[in-house]
This record gives sequence, structure tokens and C-alpha cells, in this order.
Amino acid sequence: MAEKILIIDDEATLRERLAGVLREEGWHVHTAQDGGTALKEASEGDFDLIICDLILPEINGIEVLKKVKEINPAIPFIMITAYPTVENAVEAMKIGAKDYLVKPFRFDEIILRIRNILSHQYVVKENIQLKEEIRRRYDFDHIVGKSHFMHKVYQMIEKVAPTDANVLISGESGTGKEVIARAIHQRSLRRDMRFLPINCGAIPSELVEGELFGFKKGTFTGATHDRKGLFETADKSTVFLDEISTLPIALQPKLLRFIETKEVLPMGGREWMKVDVRIIAATNQSLEKEVEKGSFRLDLYYRLKVVEINLPPLRERREDIPLLIDHFIKKFRADLHKKVDSVDEKVMGIFLSYPWKGNIRELENVIERAVIMCDGDIIALSDLPSDFMAEGEESITNLKDYVKIHEKGHIKKVLIMTNNDKKKAAELLDLSIPSLYRKIEELGI
Ligand SMILES: Nc1ncnc2c1ncn2[C@@H]1O[C@H](COP(=O)(O)OP(=O)(O)OP(=O)(O)O)[C@@H](O)[C@H]1O
Ligand SMILES: [Mg+2]
Repeated sequence: MAEKILIIDDEATLRERLAGVLREEGWHVHTAQDGGTALKEASEGDFDLIICDLILPEINGIEVLKKVKEINPAIPFIMITAYPTVENAVEAMKIGAKDYLVKPFRFDEIILRIRNILSHQYVVKENIQLKEEIRRRYDFDHIVGKSHFMHKVYQMIEKVAPTDANVLISGESGTGKEVIARAIHQRSLRRDMRFLPINCGAIPSELVEGELFGFKKGTFTGATHDRKGLFETADKSTVFLDEISTLPIALQPKLLRFIETKEVLPMGGREWMKVDVRIIAATNQSLEKEVEKGSFRLDLYYRLKVVEINLPPLRERREDIPLLIDHFIKKFRADLHKKVDSVDEKVMGIFLSYPWKGNIRELENVIERAVIMCDGDIIALSDLPSDFMAEGEESITNLKDYVKIHEKGHIKKVLIMTNNDKKKAAELLDLSIPSLYRKIEELGI
């Protein structure tokens, strides 16, 4: 079920554009332009996330959120502002903001953070059923790959999971680092406790310390409450430190000390607390290079990579591509109630030689789109995005095939434009209605 998001901002253009973009991502979005409306919406709707501008007419963002929290204390929110100051950031965090974004921000950036928060919430809201579901999802049966690389990865997981050793997972974006991290957690003795991911790159650097270690009341202007850090909440659980290379260098000694002693000291605190946390870190940058550049400490690097799992890019284990295609077709076919069951030879040929810079995630997205586009049982070139068509075209020398692909693409587009109104489409295409039907039949649209 799609999550519900409320956007509160008095700036109409940003509000409506952001709402549009988030709707395209599949979320249910409501908007409000002032505090009063926002509170009414928040008390009536059951929102999963709120995005709120700091400066609003009448009641400001902080006040709005304090009130919202009274209605629903668990609701996560992202503060956005065009006037960033450290005080504001601290104030926002203090009342429990999950994230803080400075305008103008990129929409893909906020989408990423929303996903992060929602997936985090998902885990936080755990219950037995959910845990079962997750366990099923991250069991090996759901990690696809038979290449010798993946076999090595499975062996590593088996060996390392039941220990408490720190694991460093490295690999390009989309290679499955988080999937592997969850698999380790699910096979560990902590499997009934939580898996808590945190994306170090998604939190402003001045807030990371508070987020990880917590802070005491009065540590900075505005810190009027004590706040527990992630490590303290994660007692007995697994913490997944994603994009560890972005951890500010000034904080690295503190993390190192934490890993060595398993004791936390909140900012401004005086008492060290013992916690039992397992750390799995991930990086898509070479930490070795970061160490050479001086932006990552060598001692911390060694501590993190007690066991290192390197996930090779998809283009280096192409033998897994057919399996992954099959896996994703099955997944999306069920979700989308389609009968698609394979890809044709041309598509397979292209997929096997395509560079897949976005790795498994890119393949997954391409298959999802193709399953949506495909009307029959077999995914063809014309069901793929146009850059694939171009790849495919290079291998097509035969004029008839070339024309067919373009005909099919164009007719589909016009049918979509006209909402599948065949009469209108035929008119636009300058075809008779029977010839349009014949084309649809012939081209398998
Ligand atoms: N071996 C696999 N089998 C099936 N699906 C996979 C596999 N590896 C990854 N995926 C899928 O690919 C997508 C990307 O995986 P994941 O988020 O773990 O990548 P990542 O390495 O953490 O990427 P990033 O660096 O961008 O965060 C997810 O949807 C995941 O379910
Ligand atoms: Mg990831």
C-alpha cells in the first residue's frame, strides 16, 4: 500500500511541484499551505511522513510539528528551509525531525531521503509478522545469483553471520550491498532484533554525531531534551552504516572508540553506556583510496573490515543476468497482474552485453518498466526504454524489423495519448479503424 505524505509549505510552486514528483513515485500526497490547514489534515489523515517548511505564516514550522507530534508522536518528518542555521537544524532535530534539507534541493535527493525514512520506519514498526516477512525476503532463496562470485558471497555470509564480527560490504551502487547486509542480519543470532540502517551520506554532517551518539539537554542552544542516539536504541541489534565513506573525519575517532569499547557517550553527557551493537558498514567508494586521500582514517578502516565482502559489478558476472531477469519478471508480473514470462532473444542479447552501470537496481527498473509496457507474454525490444532500442537497432540491419519496431512504438504512444480510444487513435495515425486493429494484432500491441 502506498504511503501517505503531507507537504506543508506556503510557497505554492515548490509545494505543488514537489507533490507532483512524489505522486509520480507512487505515494499519496496531501498538501497544506499554512499551519492551521496542516493540523487539520494531520489530525484527520493517517500520514506516514510529513515534509514541513520551517517558516510559515501564522504558526511556524516548529510549532506545527510540535502539535502534530502531540497527535501522533511516532510520525517522522523532514524539515525544509531556505534559511538554514545550525540553531534551526538543532531545534528541528530536538523535536524529532528525521532530516533537514536546505532549499533549493534536488527532487531526487528528497526522494532518496523519504525512501530512507520510510524504510527505516518500516523496520521500526516491526512486529512478528513483519519480521517473518523480512526473514523470508532476505533468505538466500531471494538473493539471486549462481556465478562463482555469488557462491563466494554466500559462503562468506554463512560463515560470518553467526559471529558478531564487523563486516564491510563494498561494491558499486545497486550491486546489492543492503540486500547482503540484511541477509547477514537474518542469519545471525540477532535476527529477532532490529536491523537499523542509517545512511551517513544523507544526514547533514553537523547532525551526524547527535544522530549516532545522542545528546544531552543543554548541549547546544535549543537542546531542551535529552535525545538517544542510534547506537543506544540499537542495543542488541544490527546497525547498517551505509555510505560510510561520507562519515565526517572529525567523527571517525569517536566511531572507532565506540567500535573498540562498545560504549557510547552522548554529546554533552558524562556517563558512558555499554551497548551491544553489531556493525555492518557499506561503501560504494574505495575506502582504501579515501584513506590515501586522507579523508578516511586507516585505523577505522581496519576495524570495519574485519570481514570484507566485495560485490562485483553486474557486468563482471553476466552469467547471473538471465536468472535476475527471470526473478524480476516473476516479481513484477505478480505485482502488476500480467502474464509476461520471458524476454525475446534480441532483448536477451542486448541485456547480456549492456554495461549496467546501475547494476542490479538498473536491471530491476528496466524489467519493471518492460513488464508494464509488455502486453503479451514475451518482452520485446519495443517494450524497453529508447536507449535500449538504440542499442538494439545497431544490431538490426533488416529494414522490415526496423520499421516494425518504430511502428509499434509510435502506435502504442498514440494509443496511450488517446487513452486507448481506437477511433481517435486511427484518426491521428491517419489509418482506417480496421487497419489499426490489424496493426495491433500484427505487432502484438
Ligand atoms: N542478488 C540479488 N538478487 C535479487 N535482487 C537483488 C540482488 N541484489 C540486489 N538486488 C535488488 O537490487 C536493488 C539494489 O540493491 P541494494 O539496495 O541492496 O543495492 P546497494 O548496493 O545497497 O545500492 P546503493 O549503493 O545504491 O545503495 C534492490 O531492489 C535489491 O532488492
Ligand atoms: Mg544501499
